[in-house]
Amino acid sequence: MIEGGRAPIPSAGLGAQLVPAPSADKRQGGLPHEPSPPLVPTATDSRHSEAYYETKGAIFGALIEAIDLSQLAKLDAESAREEIRDIINEIIAIKAIVMSISEQEELLDDICNDVLGYGPLEPLLARDDIADIMVNGAGTTFIEVKGKIQKTGIRFRDNQQLLNICQRIVSQIGRRVDEASPICDARLPDGSRVNVIVPPLAIDGPALTIRKFKKDKLTLAQLVNFGSITKEGSDILQIIGRCRVNTIVSGGTGSGKTTLLNCLTQFIDHDERIITCEDAAELQLQQPHVVRLETRPPNLEGEGQITMRDLVKNCLRMRPERIIVGEVRGPEAFDLLQAMNTGHDGSMGTLHANSPREALSRIESMITMGGYSLPSRTIREMVCGSVDVIVQAARLRDGSRRITHVTEVMGMEGDVIITQDIFLYDMTGEDANGNIIGKHKSTGIGRPKFWDRARYYGEEKRLAAALDAAESVSSQTS
Ligand SMILES: Nc1ncnc2c1ncn2[C@@H]1O[C@H](COP(=O)(O)OP(=O)(O)OP(=O)(O)O)[C@@H](O)[C@H]1O
Ligand SMILES: [Mg+2]
Repeated sequence: MIEGGRAPIPSAGLGAQLVPAPSADKRQGGLPHEPSPPLVPTATDSRHSEAYYETKGAIFGALIEAIDLSQLAKLDAESAREEIRDIINEIIAIKAIVMSISEQEELLDDICNDVLGYGPLEPLLARDDIADIMVNGAGTTFIEVKGKIQKTGIRFRDNQQLLNICQRIVSQIGRRVDEASPICDARLPDGSRVNVIVPPLAIDGPALTIRKFKKDKLTLAQLVNFGSITKEGSDILQIIGRCRVNTIVSGGTGSGKTTLLNCLTQFIDHDERIITCEDAAELQLQQPHVVRLETRPPNLEGEGQITMRDLVKNCLRMRPERIIVGEVRGPEAFDLLQAMNTGHDGSMGTLHANSPREALSRIESMITMGGYSLPSRTIREMVCGSVDVIVQAARLRDGSRRITHVTEVMGMEGDVIITQDIFLYDMTGEDANGNIIGKHKSTGIGRPKFWDRARYYGEEKRLAAALDAAESVSSQTS
């Protein structure tokens, strides 16, 4: 059916001659008799070679001339691939390009990815061990694996190809990136979070950042296995999650805040009505009674935006028992605190800060910036009356992610908010491989402020046991 749309493949004018064919008559047969030195290198280093990209570029150009892309879009992936395979084989024959079968297969994969999917990103998207993909213009792509950022050999043909792929991604949610609207947040069909910023704002070509969506979210048990927290620490977090303790998860970018919030929600009782508010739905609550809400960016005309604040305010009219805010970054902090303060115990949210103390001042400044002209003491009193616990996540310099603090908000002394650490990660050094050595330690608090809550939920024995065990660990090691 593509026949109709397919232009006849011209035998000349397909761009640069790729391989100097031995002679004109040999070229006619399609296969040169004397093998010329292949310009397409082996599969292992092809991603780094100029010649590979040159060959691919020429074949790609010829392919685009030869096929009708709108027809191709109607085919299922397998038939579209077959169609592309046939055309590429013809092009290779006509242009007398010398390639082994495996090189041809690799090229075919690469080109199919360009035409049908996300181009050079496909192999990265297919990998489950990658947390982030960061494309800084056509020539440079970094990934984060096991907490470490590394450069890949993946590159795009040029910035135009990269821009086309960005365009394809954002068009799925009805948006567009161009000079007029150069910034866009989007999502891949699998739920991965995407940010695109293009020239003129991004100086060296489009910058594309993808936080890969993990279908199987990490559990607290896995975090214990990774050493992000100890068993005792995880017991304390479970109790915090269950006993409706108002919690803020604080941490830097990519430190594991959302993961941790998701873990905490796993221990919420199944009879509670929970409402989640997120910019891009990442949380995966297992409870039966959950309403998931998502913010909406403005449309192309700049209208129709629904902010996090709109959602949190609306939540309060939905008879929630708990409100969970994916990321608090603006004036919605005020509404979340109000919710925490007005009978929606056990509400939670994440925010961007490097320590529990910084988290408290971030909340204060978010409220101030929201235009509330409240004296700072009043805001602090409100914070104290609302937030019970701050759980701090961090990505350490060796790439490992740890829960570094479980801190309680105790109250005010004068104008100052008093906090008390229940649990800390104590860094003691570094091993020969640069891995950080340290221990999680209890600070010896026997009865945290949420003790009565724990008792109300019948969890006080478990809490006491966890605190005792943690304490004995610290006394053995110190
Ligand atoms: N304790 C952990 N150990 C190993 N990997 C982790 C841990 N916590 C989170 N991750 C992984 O790190 C990546 C980032 O996690 P997450 O999305 O939770 O971070 P975040 O702090 O919410 O990031 P952002 O600031 O971008 O919202 C994910 O791929 C996640 O699976
Ligand atoms: Mg997050």
